[in-house]
Amino acid sequence: MGPGVLNTTAGKAAALWEGVDVHALAAAVGTPAYVYDAAAIRERYQRLTTALAGIPHRVHYSVKANGNLTVLGVLRELGAGVDIVSGGELYRAQQAGFTGDDVVFSGVGKSAREMGEALDAGVLAFNVESEGELRLLARLAADRGTVAPVAFRVNPEVEVDAAHHYIGTGRRGDKFGIPFDEIAHVAAVAAELPTVRVIGLAMHIGSQLAAFSAFAEAVTKVCGLVGVVRSAGHDGLRFLDIGGGLAVRYADGDPTPDLATFGRIAREAVESTGLTLLVEPGRFLVAESGVLLTRVLYRKHSGGKEYVIVDAGMTELLRPSHYAAYHEITSVAATDGSITADIVGPVCESGDFLAIDRTVDAVQPGDLVAVHNAGAYGFVMSSNYNARPRVAEVMVDGDRWAVVRERERYEDLVRGESATLSWRTS
Ligand code: LLP
Repeated sequence: MGPGVLNTTAGKAAALWEGVDVHALAAAVGTPAYVYDAAAIRERYQRLTTALAGIPHRVHYSVKANGNLTVLGVLRELGAGVDIVSGGELYRAQQAGFTGDDVVFSGVGKSAREMGEALDAGVLAFNVESEGELRLLARLAADRGTVAPVAFRVNPEVEVDAAHHYIGTGRRGDKFGIPFDEIAHVAAVAAELPTVRVIGLAMHIGSQLAAFSAFAEAVTKVCGLVGVVRSAGHDGLRFLDIGGGLAVRYADGDPTPDLATFGRIAREAVESTGLTLLVEPGRFLVAESGVLLTRVLYRKHSGGKEYVIVDAGMTELLRPSHYAAYHEITSVAATDGSITADIVGPVCESGDFLAIDRTVDAVQPGDLVAVHNAGAYGFVMSSNYNARPRVAEVMVDGDRWAVVRERERYEDLVRGESATLSWRTS
């Protein structure tokens, strides 16, 4: 273990950053900064593909979890495709070297412009979520003299046991997917639209799933629709997209997904339908690869409470305040004992915190702190609130590291704005 490697309570980053001096990295790049480990991403990818060995499948990494071009590049080299939900994510994927064939386009509110761009890119499939979207897509394809490849995203309407209400998506009445009992109708509509070709069925019931009973039920329900769709005249089905949602362990004691069970469910689905499996994991591939490095600014005692004020907050990592999510927090250097404190950021909101009432290493102003498992839904959900420039992102690979996104500068905060008006009306 080299100098500066995390060596406190959990010792988590020790394995991540063998050979990288974290203090030197933080001094060079500044804080806060996200640091990702390429080896950890590769390891998770291998674990997943091992669980799916022998099953015809492709992993379509969900770009929304972490869209950094270098992260995308690591996954592309491993053979992954992508799952996107916007024109911006399509652009990112293309910048990282993915081509249309690598892309499935999910999302409940695709705009005409975004669907046009995806048609032009020749995406593998549009995971269509409503009849209205299907009809608009058919028109856009007709305008271009092409045929749009479509998978119906089904809402399987199961009781999802997600970690937070906000990240369940497959319950009856959720905004996502085509309601289960409307699939036959939408399949009949599609049969009348010459510029769409139905090539698959898709589902995604939620995120941070560790138990697979609802998932298994959903897959079974969706497989049951294959016959319904085929009998509406769609004999070109090729794909069964079972979505993402594999959980990661944020806190000690959190369950981890049983990949053998996941693989068995996937195998049975493929065997019963004869379709190729697509999976759309985001979090599982990148969450544990990432750490948010932040520095302690102050300690403060108020109303009988202890505060550690650090230079990162909800603008950098929204998950604690938005989902009451737990992220382990450790000191980078060894400390003398521990304290129980709220770890809070500089943002002018009482909801700006990284941890509440947490027993952590007894850090002092100037100390470097690591917020763990921050590689998914971290940087991508960051904002410029309080005119805070978005932070740098760094990739570690072995004993090397590189800045893979520069820290924003103040000029970036006002790009596109002007203090003088140029009226567009006369
Ligand atoms: N496919 C679709 C259609 C999705 O909507 C999502 C996530 C995924 C795949 C990837 O799910 P994953 O494997 O990462 O669980 N911001 C929240 C998570 C929102 C997930 C939204 N959809 C969080 O920080 O927990």
